[in-house]
Amino acid sequence: MENFISYNSTRLHFGKGVVKGLMNNLGAAAKEIGETALLVYGGGSVLRNGSYEDTLKQLKRNNIRVVEYSGIKPNPVVTDVDNATVLGLKENVDFVVAVGGGSVIDSAKIIAVCIADKVKGWDIMSGKHRPNAALPIIAVLTLAATGTEMNPTAVIQNHETNEKNGFRHPVMAPKHSFLDPTYTQSVPADYTAYGIVDLIAHSLEAWFGAGDAPLSDKYVISIIQEALEKGPELMKDLENYDLRARIMWAATNALNDITMHARKSGDWGVHGLGHVLSYLYDTAHGATLSIIYPAWLRHIGSRSPERIIELGKSLFSTDSVESTVVEFEKFFQELGSPIKASEVGLGKEKITEILDLMTKNRVSGMHHALDESDRKSIVELMMA
Ligand code: NZQ
Ligand code: ZN
Repeated sequence: MENFISYNSTRLHFGKGVVKGLMNNLGAAAKEIGETALLVYGGGSVLRNGSYEDTLKQLKRNNIRVVEYSGIKPNPVVTDVDNATVLGLKENVDFVVAVGGGSVIDSAKIIAVCIADKVKGWDIMSGKHRPNAALPIIAVLTLAATGTEMNPTAVIQNHETNEKNGFRHPVMAPKHSFLDPTYTQSVPADYTAYGIVDLIAHSLEAWFGAGDAPLSDKYVISIIQEALEKGPELMKDLENYDLRARIMWAATNALNDITMHARKSGDWGVHGLGHVLSYLYDTAHGATLSIIYPAWLRHIGSRSPERIIELGKSLFSTDSVESTVVEFEKFFQELGSPIKASEVGLGKEKITEILDLMTKNRVSGMHHALDESDRKSIVELMMA
């Protein structure tokens, strides 16, 4: 086992009615933090599932002044981060409340640093400015997928530099995250499926990290099994509270850092490639992963099959790389998530464009580093 430090600064409130509950509700959390909130959300789904209304009522009831910034896009852009920062500085806000999915919460994390440190979003994302502080963040999660609710990571894109980057820093972890599975009952089938793919992909990134981490391995397998078992049930019954709750909690566990304990690294090559597709074609994050993972597994499996075979044995009782990949493909298809680039309208004519941006953005893995010929082989496999 590698040495590690375990620390998570997010207070997670999970279950039906947690935002507006009698005790430990969102208002109580907000009141302890400050007097003026910057309330950030996306294109309006939160106005229809009760999360915005519950949050606003809690803030108003506790005499918190609310300034709103809406319109954060899926695959969020740095211009929204900068515009929200200008508003937050002008209105002298004390904290940020993010209501939505990963795109909204990720944007809130960078907005919180930009306001505290008076810098622009890309200064942080590019590593030019190291954060000193962030305004406190309260997150109200409405989509189970990314794990952003309990980690210090944000992923943002920039149309000037042609990048979609991830950045993590401890100050960016939400102070409180409220997870009411009821809010996720309105997530449509496609994004529900993409969320399940995303949580599996995060578990796989940990599995393919380096080092001997037996307990983390068992934890990863359990999280994937939860998704394999409950995912298809949920796809047939999207408004089922218990199934929504099971998947929501699994998604948080898949990326709140515990699966990485006692390892040297997780392998993030698939996510790097996924960000290139999202950037170029606005493909949903989870959809990029169900397309790329089978291709990555086949490619890596040709040179180091052991971990893939071990994974297949634990999850599907399979005994080869190919039979393991086929099981994942069948599962992604059962969810309704694409497994080939052609399903999202990307043909072979896109290969050069994709490879060029991968090279420019230095897409690689950590444990299984990818060079130019690896990237070519993986992109060709996902087009096959
Ligand atoms: O914009 P609105 O109207 O809110 O609609 C959203 C959006 O269109 C909608 N939605 C959210 N909650 C809903 C809902 N629709 C109906 N009912 C609800 N309850 O769903 C669409 C997608 O939302 P988005 O926030 O983009 O999805 P997700 O949570 O999957 O976040 C994806 C982003 O997170 C990044 C991805 O790269 C991508 O940019 N990631 C962040 C990570 C992190 N911070 O740790 C790790 C991940 O690997 C990932 O990279
Ligand atoms: Zn992801």
